[in-house]
Amino acid sequence: AGTCAELRKAQEGLKNDLILRAARGEQTERAPCWIMRQAGRYLPEFRKIREDHDFFTCCRDPELASEITVQPIRRYRGLLDAAIIFSDILVIPQAMGLEVEMLPAKGPHFPAPLVTPRDTERLRKKVDVERELGYVYDAIRLTRTKLDGEVPLIGFCGAPWTLMAYMVEGGGSKTFEKAKTWLFKYPEESKELLQRIADVAVEFLVGQVVAGAQMLQVFDSWAGELSPSDFRTFSLPYLRSIAASVRDALSLRSITCPPLIIFAKGALGHSMPEIVKAGYDVVGLDYTVEPSVARKVVELASPGRAISSKTNTASGANEAAHRLALQGNMDPAVLYAGKEAIERKVDEMLRARKGGFGGGGAYICNLGHGITPGVDPEAVKWFLKAVHRVSEEVNSA
Ligand code: CP3
Repeated sequence: AGTCAELRKAQEGLKNDLILRAARGEQTERAPCWIMRQAGRYLPEFRKIREDHDFFTCCRDPELASEITVQPIRRYRGLLDAAIIFSDILVIPQAMGLEVEMLPAKGPHFPAPLVTPRDTERLRKKVDVERELGYVYDAIRLTRTKLDGEVPLIGFCGAPWTLMAYMVEGGGSKTFEKAKTWLFKYPEESKELLQRIADVAVEFLVGQVVAGAQMLQVFDSWAGELSPSDFRTFSLPYLRSIAASVRDALSLRSITCPPLIIFAKGALGHSMPEIVKAGYDVVGLDYTVEPSVARKVVELASPGRAISSKTNTASGANEAAHRLALQGNMDPAVLYAGKEAIERKVDEMLRARKGGFGGGGAYICNLGHGITPGVDPEAVKWFLKAVHRVSEEVNSA
C-alpha cells in the first residue's frame, strides 16, 4: 500500500497522467499517444540544432538533450501524452568501452567492432554506469524541470540482442551474418556478452528512474531477425531478466517501479504469448500485428488479469497483477500518404469492428516503428488530432 501512495504522490505533480493510467491497464477517457523517435530528424528545429552539434554531443549535453526532448511537446502542445528522453540505444555499447560514431546519411558506425569473442576483452570489466552515463541522468533531471509536469517522461535502453548485433556488426546490417555467426558458432560466449549487456541495462534503467524517468521502454529493434527458437534462446531470457531485475533493484531501494514497455519488433508473430508474460506492463506492437488479435492473445495469456483493472492500481506486474496494456501500431509510412489516408488508417487502428484496438482502455497509441526523417511535421499533427478525435469517440461509446 505504501508504494501505491508513493506512486500517486509522484503523479500528483503531473497535469496529464493518461499514459500511466493506460499502462496500468485502466480504462481511459481517450487513448494516450506518443511517437517512437518523436524527437528527431523530421523536425526542422532538431535539424537546426544538429547543424552545429554532432549527434552524440547532443546526447551528452543535458541542455541540448532536454531541449530536443521537449521540442515535439512544444510543437504539438496538448496532443502528445509523453516525452521520451533524447539519447540513443548505442550509449550502452559506448559505456561498455566501444567507440560509436554517427555518420551523416549512414547511421551508427563502430570503428572497432567485436569480431571474435576474444575482442570482448576490450570491453570494460566493470562498467561504472553512473560515471559513463550520468549525462543521461542529468538530461532526465533537467527535462523533468522543463516539462514542469506537462506530460510524463519516458526513459529507455536497447535490448541485449539488438545491442549485441550492433557491437558485432559494427553498424546496421541487412543480413546480420556477423552477429548470427556469433550466436551459432559461439553460443556460450554470446550468452556471456548478452548477460553483460543486460547487467548494464538494468543499472542504467534503474538510474534513469532515480533521475526522474516515469516510464521505461526496452527497444529490441532486431528481435524479428531471429528465428522463433533463437529469439527464445538469445533474446527473450534477457528481456525477462531485465524486467525482473529492474523491479527487484527498485523495490530494494523502496522506489516504485514505473510502467515497463517492451518493444520486440518483428517477434510478436511467433512469440506474442511469451512476450506478454515476460514481466512488462505494456507490450509494444509493430505494424505487422493485428490489434484485435493482440487483444485476444493478452486475454488468453492472462484471463485473471483482464478483470481486475478497476480495483487494482498497483505499480508493477509482479506486485499485483493488473491488466496488460498494448501499445502501437500504425505503419509509420502512412504518414507520407496525406491527411485522408492518415485519418482512414487511424480509424482502422482504433475501431474494434475494423480489427482495431477498440475502446477498452489498457491501450497507448503509437506508430508500429519509429517515425522516419522524411515525414512532414504537419502530417504528425493530422495523425495526433485524428487519434484524439476517434479515440474519444471509441472510448465513450
Ligand atoms: O524516440 C526518440 O525520439 C528518442 C530518441 C531516440 C533516438 N534513437 C534518437 C536518434 C531513440 C529512442 C532511439 C532509439 C534507437 N536508436 C533505436 C531503437 C528504435 C528503432 O527505431 O528501432 C535504434 C535501432 C537506434 C540506433 C540508431 N540511432 C540508428 C539506426 C540511427 C540512424 C538511423 C536513424 O533512424 O536515424 C540512429 C541515429 C539517431 N538516433 C537519430 C536520432 C534523432 C538521427 C541522428 C541524426 O541526427 O543524424
